[in-house]
Amino acid sequence: MPTSLVGSAEPKPDPGKPATRPQSELAAAQPYLIEQDWAAYTLEQHAIWKELVTRRLPQLQQHASIAYLEGFEQIGLQVDQLPQLKQVSARLEPRTGWNSTPVSGFLPADAFFEMLAARRFPTTTWIRSRGSMEYTPEPEIFHDVFGHVPMHAHPVFANFLQEYGRVCAGLKSAGALERLGRLFWFTVEFGVIHEAGKIKVYGSGLISSHGECTHLVERGPGLEIREFDLAKVMDTVVDVSQMQPVLYAIESFDQIYEAAREAESRLGV
Ligand SMILES: [Fe+2]
Repeated sequence: MPTSLVGSAEPKPDPGKPATRPQSELAAAQPYLIEQDWAAYTLEQHAIWKELVTRRLPQLQQHASIAYLEGFEQIGLQVDQLPQLKQVSARLEPRTGWNSTPVSGFLPADAFFEMLAARRFPTTTWIRSRGSMEYTPEPEIFHDVFGHVPMHAHPVFANFLQEYGRVCAGLKSAGALERLGRLFWFTVEFGVIHEAGKIKVYGSGLISSHGECTHLVERGPGLEIREFDLAKVMDTVVDVSQMQPVLYAIESFDQIYEAAREAESRLGV
C-alpha cells in the first residue's frame, strides 16, 4: 500500500544533508528541504532499487498509461541505480517546469501544497529495506520517483498537479481539504485512464505496488472501476488499510485539470 506525502509528523532522520541553497519561495517547506547525498547510497541500496524496478517494469509495459511510460524515458530513470534528483529535474524542468525536490519525510499539509503550487515535488531520498519490498508506510524514493515523477513530464498532468496544490493551499476548512484529499487519492495515487479501449494505470500507488496493480489487472474480488465523477470522488471515503476496492477511470488528463478548478468553485474558495 503506498502512502500520501501529506502528514503531520516531524521530519524523520534522513540520509540526506541539509539543503545549502536558499529556497526562499518555500516558506512553510523550508525546514524540510535537504540535499540528496547520492554518493552515500550503498551497493545494497542500488540493488534494492534495481530489484524493485525490474519487478515492476514488465507489468507496467503492458498496463501503464503511455503518459507514464513516455515520462519514464524522458526523465532518464535508470534500472540499475538510484536516481540523482538533480539530473531528473534537469530533464524535467525544460519540459514542464517541475522539479523533484529532496525533502526529509512527511510534510505538513501547508508545506506540501506550497511545494506543489510551486511545481516542486517533495521527494524523499531514503529507500525501503529488503524487509519492506512490497509496502512501506512512509514515503521513500522508489514510490516517490518511480511512482510519481514520470507523470510530471506530461504537460497536462503537470498543470493539474500544480493547480491542485494552488487550490488546496487556499482552503481553510478541514472538511474541504479532506474532500480534496480524495481527489488526490483517486487520481495522483490510484488513477486509471481509458486508453485504446483498455484501462491503464497512471497513479503512483498502482505504478509502484505490484500487489495493488495485480489486483487491478486481474480484476480482483470486490474491485469496481467507475467512471470519473468529481462529486462521487469527493464523497468516496478512503480506507488505506486494504486493497483499493474502487478506482475512478478518466478519459483524459484534461478531465482532472478541469476537476481541480471545478472543486475550487464548488468548495467556495
Ligand atoms: Fe504517493
